[in-house]
Amino acid sequence: PRSIYLSRHGESQFNVEGKIGGDSLLSPHGMLYAGALPALITDNIGDAPLTVWTSTLRRTIQTAAQLPYPKLTWKSLDELDAGVCDGMTYEEIEQAYPDDFANRDDDKFNYRYRGGESYRDVVVRLEPVIMELERQENILIIGHQAILRCLYAYFHHLPQVDLPYIKIPLHTVIKLTPKAYGCDEERYALPI
Ligand code: F6P
Repeated sequence: PRSIYLSRHGESQFNVEGKIGGDSLLSPHGMLYAGALPALITDNIGDAPLTVWTSTLRRTIQTAAQLPYPKLTWKSLDELDAGVCDGMTYEEIEQAYPDDFANRDDDKFNYRYRGGESYRDVVVRLEPVIMELERQENILIIGHQAILRCLYAYFHHLPQVDLPYIKIPLHTVIKLTPKAYGCDEERYALPI
C-alpha cells in the first residue's frame, strides 16, 4: 500500500519569535530536524520510491534539502496567507485588530485575514494538490501548519469546524496509509 507522509518544516526563525507567515529560514533546531529527517524516512520506506513535495517557501525547501529523493515545489502548498497580519505575533494582531482577532476565534474556518486567506480559501486552493495526491504513489509533503491541517482533515474525513484546531506538531512525521475506508496513521516524533 502506498503512504502519504506529512511533516511541517523544521522550526523556523519566525516560530522562535512567535511571528506568523513570512519566509524565514530554519532555526538551529530546525536545521537539526532537517539533518535527522533523511534517516527517519529512509528507515521507514526502505527501497520503495518516494517523491518529496514542498511549498515555495524557504523553510520547507531547507527542510527537504538533504532528502535523497526527487522533489517538486508547489505554490499551492504555501502557508495560509495572513494578509496585513503577516509577520506579526498573535499579541500584536490582538492589539492592532481586536475585532478581527475575536471574529477569528468565533469562526476560525471561515475567518479571512484582511488582504489574505481563510481556511476555507486554503481548502479550495488545495483541490488540485489533493487530486494529484490521489493519483500518486508514496509522497512526503514538507508543509505548513494550516496546510497540513487541511490535508489531514481530508484524508481522515474530519469536519470543517474541527479542522483549524488539529494538532500538527513540529518535528513529527505523520504517516497516512489510505485504506478502503479511512486511513491508518502512525506518528514519528524526533526528540529535537
Ligand atoms: O505559526 C506558524 C503558522 O504556520 C503561521 O504561519 C500560520 O499563520 C499559523 O501557523 C496557522 O495556525 P493558526 O491558524 O492556528 O493561527
